[in-house]
Amino acid sequence: MFDGKTVLITGGTGSLGQALTRRLLTTKVRTVRVFSRNENKQVMMESEIHDKRLRFLIGDIRDKERLITALDGVDIVFHAAALKHVPVIEYNPFESIKTNVIGSQNVIDACLHQNVGTAVCIGTDKAVSPLNTYGATKLLMEKLFVTANNYLNHKKYRTRFLAVRYGNVVGSSGSVIPRFIEQIKAKKKITITNPKMTRFSITMNQALDLIIDTALNGKESEIYIPKLKAYSITDVKDTLFDLLGNTGEKVIGIRSGEKLHETLINNEEMRSSWDLGKYYMIANPLRDENDVKKSYSQKIKKISNVESYSSDSVAKMTKSELKKTIIESGLLDTET
Ligand SMILES: NC(=O)c1ccc[n+]([C@@H]2O[C@H](COP(=O)([O-])OP(=O)(O)OC[C@H]3O[C@@H](n4cnc5c(N)ncnc54)[C@H](OP(=O)(O)O)[C@@H]3O)[C@@H](O)[C@H]2O)c1
Repeated sequence: MFDGKTVLITGGTGSLGQALTRRLLTTKVRTVRVFSRNENKQVMMESEIHDKRLRFLIGDIRDKERLITALDGVDIVFHAAALKHVPVIEYNPFESIKTNVIGSQNVIDACLHQNVGTAVCIGTDKAVSPLNTYGATKLLMEKLFVTANNYLNHKKYRTRFLAVRYGNVVGSSGSVIPRFIEQIKAKKKITITNPKMTRFSITMNQALDLIIDTALNGKESEIYIPKLKAYSITDVKDTLFDLLGNTGEKVIGIRSGEKLHETLINNEEMRSSWDLGKYYMIANPLRDENDVKKSYSQKIKKISNVESYSSDSVAKMTKSELKKTIIESGLLDTET
């Protein structure tokens, strides 16, 4: 799919953007354009990844004109740029609306303007029945992407807009495992919000597989969702204490806007959800079921009799699986 193609990643200097860039450079991609605001992050990334096919474009997704120029000649867009830190966004809600909502519409408009072939946006479980502003803005991003496929009814446009949705990437910036590791290494008590809390877990490689498979196999206005296990915060704590030593714990209570469990498909969405084998997929509820079925060459089945897909309803990772995941993430080796 990527042979000879030009790909642009909004938020290309972020945790996901960098990993996706590296993965794309293992293919026969023609060019990868990294689009983001901070020049220092770009300079750092350029010094770490040496590849003539890489281009660095400074730009803000709030600036539609800049996006239109950046997308000239682009075949595939991965839209990863976002504000994502829940407390920061709770304090500055309209800034996240400007980036995550208006910025996403700018990405859509620029894709349509430049007749980009495929655009995939990166969603989160926090967008499902959202409790906080981050989740609400990411829900709107998904809605904008899914609905933008309406333009396919006009001959002039050809962009397929798709979305993926997943839970916490093990070790991504601001997530719980690196925070616990930092606290333990500093000989501090780890701060647990609620011992009963569960979260979906995905490794960066699983996230990359999902994103690339979505770009390859997604049809139009679909949300692809990985089949994941979950972890309990108490198991993460116990596993890290086993690995690094027990520095004690302090329960600080659930923060405003935080859920005890996360959901990847809610009850409403189950009605238009499909099992694709490797992934789940939420189809646009306005699409005819037979058309959805016909659009896939392999057998796909409608999900039935499932209430919802949430982190307290799926299998938990065992402690040994957690241990392996943490060790393989390389997080224990990083200096704090
Ligand atoms: N990390 C997770 O666990 C997780 C889980 C589910 C979904 N997601 C989603 O995955 C995506 C990537 O997450 P991540 O962990 O890679 O985030 P990240 O490390 O914080 O990276 C965010 C990227 O977006 C860029 N950016 C932010 N605002 C921008 C703007 N206005 N214009 C252009 N670029 C902008 C940042 O660079 P500059 O600041 O230099 O612009 C950076 O390159 C996000 O959409 C997030 O919502 C993440």
